Amino acid sequence: MTAPDTIRLGDWQDPSTLVGQILSRQTMILTAGQLVSAWRRCSLSSDFWARYASLFSKRFDAGHPVQREALESAVSYLLNELFENCAKFSSASIDTVKYESWVMPGGIVIQLTNHILPEKQAGFVELMKELLDGDPDELYFRKLEQNAESDQAGSGLGYLSLMKDYNIRFGFRFYKLDDRSTAVDVQAHINIKEI
Ligand SMILES: Nc1ncnc2c1ncn2[C@@H]1O[C@H](COP(=O)(O)OP(=O)(O)OP(=O)(O)O)[C@@H](O)[C@H]1O
Ligand SMILES: [Mg+2]
Repeated sequence: MTAPDTIRLGDWQDPSTLVGQILSRQTMILTAGQLVSAWRRCSLSSDFWARYASLFSKRFDAGHPVQREALESAVSYLLNELFENCAKFSSASIDTVKYESWVMPGGIVIQLTNHILPEKQAGFVELMKELLDGDPDELYFRKLEQNAESDQAGSGLGYLSLMKDYNIRFGFRFYKLDDRSTAVDVQAHINIKEI
């Protein structure tokens, strides 16, 4: 049962339901503060885990050979976006950033968990609903136009580009831990056939 303080959007899937398909699972815990204090830690962690995942290339069941380099570069691009978002947008007193990934014959599920102030949740949920409900191509060009007309900080194109370029399916789960912290799971599903 879903607790009242939990919201799930898009393709968020309970990782326990993946059991039986998993070839390998990885976990790493960092803090947003460490990522911000040396920004290169985002790309370093992304490149490390992308190389690590790509070494499974022969074990996938894509119906065609999986190019190790293509997989590595797609995962690195995806992870960099996810780590940078954790660094940029973590706002709660809990600073933990958790990386988890599950490698399966059909693809890879990656989840990054960070924490935000509860009052930041509604805006994030609205943005993600727009992203998940809309047509990615149409939304992408609309956002490009909006960005050209405003000078807001984030472009809002990170998730959209990944949906467009690699057909990544995203899911989000928000769960309130206490009055000052809400945990956010951002889950990305890579279909190996799209690589
Ligand atoms: N991990 C996260 N924690 C809290 N808020 C987030 C997180 N990821 C995304 N957001 C919110 O969702 C918005 C959209 O994220 P997205 O990555 O698509 O764009 P961006 O980071 O703003 O810009 P870009 O990725 O193009 O530099 C962000 O501006 C932010 O408000
Ligand atoms: Mg981003």
